[in-house]
Amino acid sequence: MKSLLIIGGLGLLGNRLVQKAKGKFDVAFTYRSGEPWHDAKGHQLDITDFQATNFLIKELQPDAVINTAAFHVVDGCEKDKNLAKLVNTDAAINLGRACQKAGSHYIFVSTDYVFDGSKKEKYSVSDVPNPQSYYGESKLLAESSLLSMDADNAVARTSVIYGWNPKKNFITWLIGELKAGKEVKIVDDQFSSPTLADNGADALLRMVELEKTGVWHVAGKDCLSRYVLAQKTAKVFGFDESLIRPIKTSELNQLAKRPANSCLDVGKTEKELGVRMLSCDQGLMLMAKQEKKLREPWRCL
Ligand SMILES: NC(=O)c1ccc[n+]([C@@H]2O[C@H](COP(=O)([O-])OP(=O)(O)OC[C@H]3O[C@@H](n4cnc5c(N)ncnc54)[C@H](OP(=O)(O)O)[C@@H]3O)[C@@H](O)[C@H]2O)c1
Repeated sequence: MKSLLIIGGLGLLGNRLVQKAKGKFDVAFTYRSGEPWHDAKGHQLDITDFQATNFLIKELQPDAVINTAAFHVVDGCEKDKNLAKLVNTDAAINLGRACQKAGSHYIFVSTDYVFDGSKKEKYSVSDVPNPQSYYGESKLLAESSLLSMDADNAVARTSVIYGWNPKKNFITWLIGELKAGKEVKIVDDQFSSPTLADNGADALLRMVELEKTGVWHVAGKDCLSRYVLAQKTAKVFGFDESLIRPIKTSELNQLAKRPANSCLDVGKTEKELGVRMLSCDQGLMLMAKQEKKLREPWRCL
């Protein structure tokens, strides 16, 4: 059985990776803060501590490492570029070097925000990135270094991840607001490919199994606006759709620029990994089923 280390194992994507890897891989994970709930082996690690990171990789010598850890608050990265570079670029590259020494297959999770949004269709893996925010830039810097450093490295770009996790994401925040009967204003001019964490985890684990290298798009099948995503959420979870009001990005005065279109083409992923990437309707319905099964649905398989 291959050994696999998940960096950021209590995060939204990392949690699903650890749970889905059990039984298929000899899985261990790292976490920075919080109380681990997995029965796999957990190691407390801040990846900006390069020495501790190098020591852990040397000690574990995992066959594969998936790095989900990031500073991904988009406006926060604009405000604190040093921290964004430290976590998203330098620490990600340091992990890459440690993996290279240990002979571990390294998968770096990146973002759809490496694209500028000017394309009218979905972005393919061969499209040229041109980030508009420092978050996107910090991720792209890591992508480029990792791909040129070692031909065995892989980059997996994803988009608007959602699912159950103790920490809120766009969908769980929205469910909370709608449940409380609050009106929400959601942009109708930002298009992306929302990704159910469980589905993203399936594709990433397949990348490990097949030892895939290079650039991949691991995202949902749809290309839709946040507003339409919010409407679909209200429908699936049975909330009042009229509480959702469309607004324009320009009304938000956000510090960092967002791409109007960051939809990702998952054709290569589906064809070469043999994984079906879900539409938002399918993903949201799966989430609703998980909620019915457990009080803490992030603990379910
Ligand atoms: N969420 C999205 O919509 C989205 C969209 C596109 C791409 N992505 C990318 O997908 C990946 C996974 O996202 P996610 O939504 O699963 O994120 P998440 O839920 O915030 O999980 C990220 C994890 O990384 C950990 N982390 C942050 N800084 C760290 C550090 N210095 N050392 C060690 N661990 C650290 C966090 O730990 P703490 O809880 O202790 O801070 C957290 O558990 C990220 O690389 C992100 O850039 C996300």
